[in-house]
Amino acid sequence: MKKSTVVVAVVGAATVCAVATLIVKHRMHKSSKWGRAVAIIREFEEKCVTKDSKLKQVADAMTVEMHAGLASEGGSKLKMLITYVDNLPTGDEDGVFYALDLGGTNFRVLRVQLGGKEGGIVHQEFAEASIPESLMVGNSDALFDYIAAELAKFVAAEEEKFHQPLGKQRELGFTFSFPVMQTSINSGTIMRWTKGFSIDDAVGQDVVGELEKAMKRKGVDMRVSALVNDTVGTLAGGKYTHKDVAVAVILGTGTNAAYVERVQAIPKWHGPVPKSGEMVINMEWGNFRSSHLPLTEYDHALDNESLNPGEQIFEKMTSGMYLGEILRRVLLRVAEEAGVFGDEVPPKLKEAFILRTPDMSAMHHDSSSDLRVVGDKLKDILEISNTSLKTRRLVVELCNIVATRGARLAAAGVLGILKKMGRDTPRQGGPEKTVIAMDGGLYEHYTEYRMVLENSLKELLGEELATSIVFVHSNDGSGIGAALLAASHSMYLEDKS
Ligand code: BGC
Repeated sequence: MKKSTVVVAVVGAATVCAVATLIVKHRMHKSSKWGRAVAIIREFEEKCVTKDSKLKQVADAMTVEMHAGLASEGGSKLKMLITYVDNLPTGDEDGVFYALDLGGTNFRVLRVQLGGKEGGIVHQEFAEASIPESLMVGNSDALFDYIAAELAKFVAAEEEKFHQPLGKQRELGFTFSFPVMQTSINSGTIMRWTKGFSIDDAVGQDVVGELEKAMKRKGVDMRVSALVNDTVGTLAGGKYTHKDVAVAVILGTGTNAAYVERVQAIPKWHGPVPKSGEMVINMEWGNFRSSHLPLTEYDHALDNESLNPGEQIFEKMTSGMYLGEILRRVLLRVAEEAGVFGDEVPPKLKEAFILRTPDMSAMHHDSSSDLRVVGDKLKDILEISNTSLKTRRLVVELCNIVATRGARLAAAGVLGILKKMGRDTPRQGGPEKTVIAMDGGLYEHYTEYRMVLENSLKELLGEELATSIVFVHSNDGSGIGAALLAASHSMYLEDKS
């Protein structure tokens, strides 16, 4: 072999070696990065575990807090608000009533025509509008003027057959889905805001007064006959169609529950004992907190950076406003520490609330073999292209961890209510049937979440009791329920009898 040939061969071999080393190093680097990603996810998964034993502790804590909240005002993180609803609809309600449903990203105006005994809901019509973000953090007048203007439009467009006889005022059920300290069936003060609303000058104000002033400014002649939380509306709407409804749960942007309590079990109630002996309680369970809740560093960070730090902790682990945001936070960590989306952290992934729960749900339910939906969502929302199947699987796994924890905690919450009502143990002659009226976009559209919630509750209750619990989706029950309650509290009721 010539000398030059030997040199070339040696150099060539060295180059091959160096390239091979680089490839091995790159692979090792890649695999150790992947290992880091898996480690982050496993750690998160472990912290999110909700074994049955843990859920039972959460349920017990919920029951204890319910007692404390009923005992005295401010006795618990659970407000256990008195609603002044001591009678749920009977089916005799008759006439045309309106409802205004404000509580999340959208609000609705409804007109419901009730047909009295056996007549049911003869007719219903609604208009929906979204609340501009600027109004969610603006001032009270701006928000209520906007709502009253929509109401004015709705009424102006209505057919003549719905017009009230001369001298008779239209009556409205106002579903206001935030914590309110009620002083009667149609008055109450705003305690605080949740779900991304923050209108300081409205806190402590009479919410019906604010609406009525705005209606006057916009020329709407209507009387608010009932002020209700969406859970209370859902309970009323649910009861209208299923007589065994005793609990209502909302799982939407926010979360909450209401149920029927014996007045005797409400020490903080000093008013007269109603004929029914019962009162609907708006729990405001979104503000529940317990050392048994499996909180992670991501939850703490989300809470610290929220508009209402330290509040609504249960809501922040279970409801639609937050699930996508928890997922984003874990993905960001995986991107930063394990580089699964490339060497640079995708800038969009740093934007709070960019990943919405409906998108998370779409990814979670992706049944295509190449997880196409996941790939598309990552690309369209987070501008992350060319993701491998392995990466997409990891995203789905994270969706599952976040949604499962939320749904199982919500199930534990319901178990807590059933315990408080004494419906968690079999009775002589068979268990009492309990119908739970459910509503909210999360419950309605996130199938996996709904299934986990329902199955977990049944598992926790055991076979015998499981059959006595029925979940019904009370679609738009809160609006209809508010109209029904306006009807049962109508100022013209006396005239009719
Ligand atoms: C509010 C409740 C409401 C629930 C569901 C929570 O953020 O505090 O009043 O019922 O969301 O809309």
